[in-house]
Amino acid sequence: MNVLVVGGAGYIGSHVVLDLLTKGHSVTVFDNLSSGQRVNLFPEAHFVEGDIMFGNELDDTLGTGNFDAVIHLAALKAAGDSMVEPERYAEHNTSGTLRLIHAVCRHGVGAFVFSSSAAVYGNPVQLPIDEAHPLEPTNFYGFTKLETERFLKWYSQLRNLRFVSLRYFNAAGYDVEGRVRGLEVNPKNLIPIAMEVATGARGEMTVFGDDYDTPDGTCIRDYIHVNDLAVAHTKALEYMAAGKGDLICNLGTGKGFSVLEVLRATEDAIGEKLNYRIGPRRAGDPANLVAASDLAREKLDWEPHHSDLNTLIETAWSAYRPG
Ligand code: UFG
Repeated sequence: MNVLVVGGAGYIGSHVVLDLLTKGHSVTVFDNLSSGQRVNLFPEAHFVEGDIMFGNELDDTLGTGNFDAVIHLAALKAAGDSMVEPERYAEHNTSGTLRLIHAVCRHGVGAFVFSSSAAVYGNPVQLPIDEAHPLEPTNFYGFTKLETERFLKWYSQLRNLRFVSLRYFNAAGYDVEGRVRGLEVNPKNLIPIAMEVATGARGEMTVFGDDYDTPDGTCIRDYIHVNDLAVAHTKALEYMAAGKGDLICNLGTGKGFSVLEVLRATEDAIGEKLNYRIGPRRAGDPANLVAASDLAREKLDWEPHHSDLNTLIETAWSAYRPG
């Protein structure tokens, strides 16, 4: 297939591109390099430096590329920031994405894969969280993802756009073969922050609360390896190539780890104690987020293979380890 990967130079996007290339697909990366990085561009993929905010750049690319499918991963993703700068999140994640969807429809590309998030659910009312769980995002970021899914349902009906929306739980780790080296700048997530403390790039870190209703008091999350996430995108393309679409599914393992379990596994991997202290809760953090991913298993024939805690931490450490 001939695939346009929007946001293909980013952390998850570069792993998606890698999987597509490995499976013999032809790939064009469209990225404004705001958080994506040149070091994440693979020579086998064509690269267009462009921005979804500019319809003419989308038209130029989609008009000449003869694409079978578009994968859209270009978005702002810091849930906390989205509560402070909702306008920026509305512009990029909603208006920008709509511009892209409109251009995709205009140029007759019939298949669209969207990066969605567990943030669409908000505070869980039951665990594990399946796709029938109520949709009550507690941050603006989750709202933008949910709105896009609703637009996609309408465009599927009105413009015949097949889509698959993938609700990622906590993406983590790095390519198991070490082919992606671009580290995220100013990361906001637990594992990269722990890695920066491990390398000394950051002096210390805070565990956000140890008084949650969980066995060790710290929050539990469902960490999914980025290679496992990437494979789901390729499978979503295969699903749509078989004439199917309109699928929204979770991507997680069904197993959760607490913040302290993650930090202990990191200490084991690096062979040293990490400099962390227990601090107050971070606003908006649910105690426990674990996915039911039966739908992805059933519809996409998808299964995580690298998402055990050890592989998540070891592959992250391989990317961060100095030298
Ligand atoms: N945490 C700390 N200290 C830190 C950073 C994080 O204790 O310095 C804790 C958080 O409080 C939370 C856990 O580690 O309990 C995981 O936090 P992350 O920031 O890594 O991830 P989140 O679960 O907050 O959010 C991530 C993505 C969201 C996505 C969500 C889905 O950033 O976009 O996973 O589960 F919606």
